[in-house]
Amino acid sequence: MSAPPAAIAPPDAGRLSIRARHLTRIYTVGSVQVSAIDGINLSVTRGQFVVLKGDSGSGKSTLLSLLAGLDRLTTGELTVAGRNLNQGSEAELTDFRRHTVGMVFQAFNLLPTLTVLENVCLPGLLAGRGYHTVRAKARELLEWLGLGDRLGHQPSQLSGGEMQRTAIARALINDPAIVLADEPTGNLDSRNARTVMALLADLNRRFERTVVIATHSDLADAYATMVLRLQDGRVAT
Ligand SMILES: Nc1ncnc2c1ncn2[C@@H]1O[C@H](COP(=O)(O)OP(=O)(O)O)[C@@H](O)[C@H]1O
Ligand SMILES: [Mg+2]
Repeated sequence: MSAPPAAIAPPDAGRLSIRARHLTRIYTVGSVQVSAIDGINLSVTRGQFVVLKGDSGSGKSTLLSLLAGLDRLTTGELTVAGRNLNQGSEAELTDFRRHTVGMVFQAFNLLPTLTVLENVCLPGLLAGRGYHTVRAKARELLEWLGLGDRLGHQPSQLSGGEMQRTAIARALINDPAIVLADEPTGNLDSRNARTVMALLADLNRRFERTVVIATHSDLADAYATMVLRLQDGRVAT
């Protein structure tokens, strides 16, 4: 793997990357209330590699969605990269999602009718950046990730590992301070899983990106600076 492009500028997120106090997210379905996140306290400094573990249903995806500004907390306090997520309009939250966090999912979530290059460019264009700048950055990222000869492919023409590397490039297009990954190796064979995990670790170490990853895989253990084990929406001790 070649050196990552210099265009990945170190983000200035301040020292404390994530601060949660008594964080809760209660889902109400009919008359049933589920405390998916139930009073979590968390302080993560910039550049940590946080591994979220826990059984299915323990709250990992919910916590990542809250950190990504994809979902709203019910009570408590949450600040991510200096942005208070307790308040703010939908427009402000959208701005936060576009500029501050990059998200990688188990199912890749690529748009099937767009090419690899277009998928990676899209969040950059949505963030209002110039076409040529975004395109050049996307090419650079994809070349770094070994996909320089797949730019015109559609997702259906890629292997799982290639799809996930495309999704990683997409997550990085706006230089996010924080990269959030929800079981990113869950659909990959062990060789590709190792590659994806090493890429996330590389980003973390070389560029001080804070990485928060939910995973069942032991592959993350070697890179973790913090392991949080969730159980019923709480941090297990
Ligand atoms: N959109 C939702 N509506 C209602 N309940 C939900 C929703 N999302 C998750 N839950 C519930 O919240 C709990 C935590 O889920 P989740 O965060 O997906 O856990 P994990 O990612 O660790 O498997 C589960 O009990 C789940 O059923
Ligand atoms: Mg999950």
